[in-house]
Amino acid sequence: QVNQAELLLFSVPAYACQRRTTLVNHNTALTDALSLLAENAELSEEEGRGVAFRRAAAVLKALPSVVTSMAQLEGLPCLGGHSLRVIRDVLENGASHEAETTKQSERYKALKVLTGIFGVGAKTADRWIREGIHTLQQLRESAQTLNRAQQAGLDHYDDLNQPVSQTEADAIGDIVQKAVACVLPGAQVTLTGGFRRGKDTGHDVDFLITHPEEGREVGLMPKIVSWLESRGFLLYQKTTRNSYLESMDGPGRPASNMDRFERCLSIFKLPDVEPQGTKEGPISAAPQKRWRAVRVDLVVSPISQFAFALLGWTGSKLFERELRRWAGHEKAMSLSSHALHDNTQSRYLRASSEEEIFAHLSLEYIPPSERNA
Ligand code: GTP
Ligand code: MN
Ligand code: MN
Repeated sequence: QVNQAELLLFSVPAYACQRRTTLVNHNTALTDALSLLAENAELSEEEGRGVAFRRAAAVLKALPSVVTSMAQLEGLPCLGGHSLRVIRDVLENGASHEAETTKQSERYKALKVLTGIFGVGAKTADRWIREGIHTLQQLRESAQTLNRAQQAGLDHYDDLNQPVSQTEADAIGDIVQKAVACVLPGAQVTLTGGFRRGKDTGHDVDFLITHPEEGREVGLMPKIVSWLESRGFLLYQKTTRNSYLESMDGPGRPASNMDRFERCLSIFKLPDVEPQGTKEGPISAAPQKRWRAVRVDLVVSPISQFAFALLGWTGSKLFERELRRWAGHEKAMSLSSHALHDNTQSRYLRASSEEEIFAHLSLEYIPPSERNA
């Protein structure tokens, strides 16, 4: 069917951070199959396979039109043998046999249900499955001890597995804004994560908080948390230092910051903001619940690190991973959500905007709406 003379060939740079990936995806049939296999690999703790599938899916997301033949993929990066077999299957048969089989497997279904509980990762889910626990009911009836996060996750399972809307994200933003203005006037709140990239739903809402005067942000997180807690807005919270990836990425954070609590994983109790009557549910005499649980991530950053934190918390996860890989492999630099270290010059490179960080990395600036790799 494909006329060789009209064959539309695509060309895409190798790193996702070199590409513009909007939310418009012309190849969802292909990327859904690859993403499912990526997720399954991640849930099975096969990180390498997971990343390979994620990279392949990201290349297809960046294409300007629909792929109709294998020949069009000639020369594209990140498409390994396994990913190409999946793509061929979808193009020739309308579906990937492997993806469909995986989706229907008991193990995948159980992993999805159990890791759908906030606080439950692949390791815990795997252990439970090996002990015969495949469903929430079985978990509730088992003698498993749950930690505080997992208990909250189980208590609010349905709410937390329902996507957060932009209206809800805005309402949460207003509450956070108010809390911050009360405990530290002049502090600034910025929406990050998927909503900053323009997504219209999310699994949580992410905020980054700073103050234009360096040092004024010290001790801020506990104050915000107290404000929220005293007004009944928190169903769960855990405040910690942010050590994610920094430990693996080498230098990235000055030791003087080590005592700072800067990250809060929380579950908000959000009073209803969506129009009433749209909710499904059994008709009963029980009073209707007038709130819902929403996952919210808060991060506090000193202004000197703000650009790095903003870049690091905007995502997507693959875009972030690719930025760090580009920095390390192509520029001999270490990028974290605190700093950029030039390993050749043995010094930190300052930046007060995301644009400057891209420039340090010799990358064309990609705005948040085009970081949806
Ligand atoms: P949804 O929430 O599913 O809509 O998508 P999202 O892109 O907002 O994902 P998520 O909220 O999980 O993460 C947002 C960004 O924060 C991503 O770029 C992650 O890489 C980053 N992130 C998540 N957890 C951590 C962490 O512990 N430390 C750091 N530095 N970054 C993190
Ligand atoms: Mn998010
Ligand atoms: Mn988050």
